[in-house]
Amino acid sequence: MNFIPYGKQTIDNEDIASVIEVLQSDFLTTGPKVKEFEETICNYTGATYCVAVANGTAALHLASLVLLTKGDKVLTTPNSFLATSNSILYVGAKPIFVDICEDGNINLELCEEYLKNDNSIKALYGVHFSGNPLNQTKLKNLRETYNIKILEDCAHSLGAIFDGIHAGSCQNSDCSILSFHPVKHITTGEGGAITTNSQELYEKLLILRAHGMVKTPEMKPWEYEMRELGFNYRIPDFACALGISQFKKLPNFIAKRQEIAKTYGEGFLHTPIKPLYSFNENSSYHLYVVRVDFSKLCITKEELFIKMREANIGLQLHYIPINKQPYYKTLGYGDESTPAMDSYYDESFSLPMFPALRDDEQAYIIKKLLEILDV
Ligand SMILES: Cc1ncc(COP(=O)(O)O)c(C=O)c1O
Repeated sequence: MNFIPYGKQTIDNEDIASVIEVLQSDFLTTGPKVKEFEETICNYTGATYCVAVANGTAALHLASLVLLTKGDKVLTTPNSFLATSNSILYVGAKPIFVDICEDGNINLELCEEYLKNDNSIKALYGVHFSGNPLNQTKLKNLRETYNIKILEDCAHSLGAIFDGIHAGSCQNSDCSILSFHPVKHITTGEGGAITTNSQELYEKLLILRAHGMVKTPEMKPWEYEMRELGFNYRIPDFACALGISQFKKLPNFIAKRQEIAKTYGEGFLHTPIKPLYSFNENSSYHLYVVRVDFSKLCITKEELFIKMREANIGLQLHYIPINKQPYYKTLGYGDESTPAMDSYYDESFSLPMFPALRDDEQAYIIKKLLEILDV
């Protein structure tokens, strides 16, 4: 069996042709494909506005610039990629790490406790972890009751739906962000986007994406004004062409991911390998996470990773608690009481999950995992 990574892009000839077409055109960047990609994202998610950017981290940075001010306290999850809370630090705001639920998502009940006890908390940054959407009704209630800003980090959850509400639609949030890294649902190589329903935020984001520059029809032909400190977070046109082409396959990609999730779930029935949540058709399954109580087995998690690697299967761990990272410790984090996150970190790991994962590979992964764990 060839090496099976935990995640991988699926690119076909149509994708390649769409990129070549742009390479042969007049615009490699800041051309018509950017707008078309943004419109595609709006049509799919239901959000009114979209700003496509260089990557998901840039999307988080720009969203944080328009949502937060220095010193703001922001509730967020320790169970995410570093970029989610880093973006809060980028703008001088202060993340507060809230424990997670059994399904790996931030615990919104605990968030409410924080909000009740501290009316200086300004925002909540939630992640629809692994593609499993946060409860939109709860997000709505928190937003309205406590008058906080909400950002949905949808890097894992393109295509996830909760009660008819698409991740990224911003129905109950101020901004959402997406990532198009190759392991995500669709890819542009590197790429990201911010969606919002606020025209005011949209206009600010457009300016910040391009150096804080403004050019109006009244200005002289050569003139532009820099009105704030912005960045070059532009995404190239050929990347957007790839994204547009990939979007056509998204429904199939999600169906395939859900099929794989079902196969894994059935393969681990009546074993000590517990899927993070039972099959959930609302989840777009960016990740397939399982939990194992290693204290009851004769193998450690490290040994499992090594033996699975020897069997050519790449496991991953999503995630090391962000608040326990050395840099965060220098800022005074790391001692929060997060018992659910701690036991999740001890027990969890992610199995390969990508649309091109073949049936025989899925069967091999299940067989090897059961064999190596000796269960
Ligand atoms: C939850 C989450 N947010 C943000 C990001 C950042 O996205 P990017 O890698 O495109 O910068 C990632 C990337 O893995 C992620 O998983």
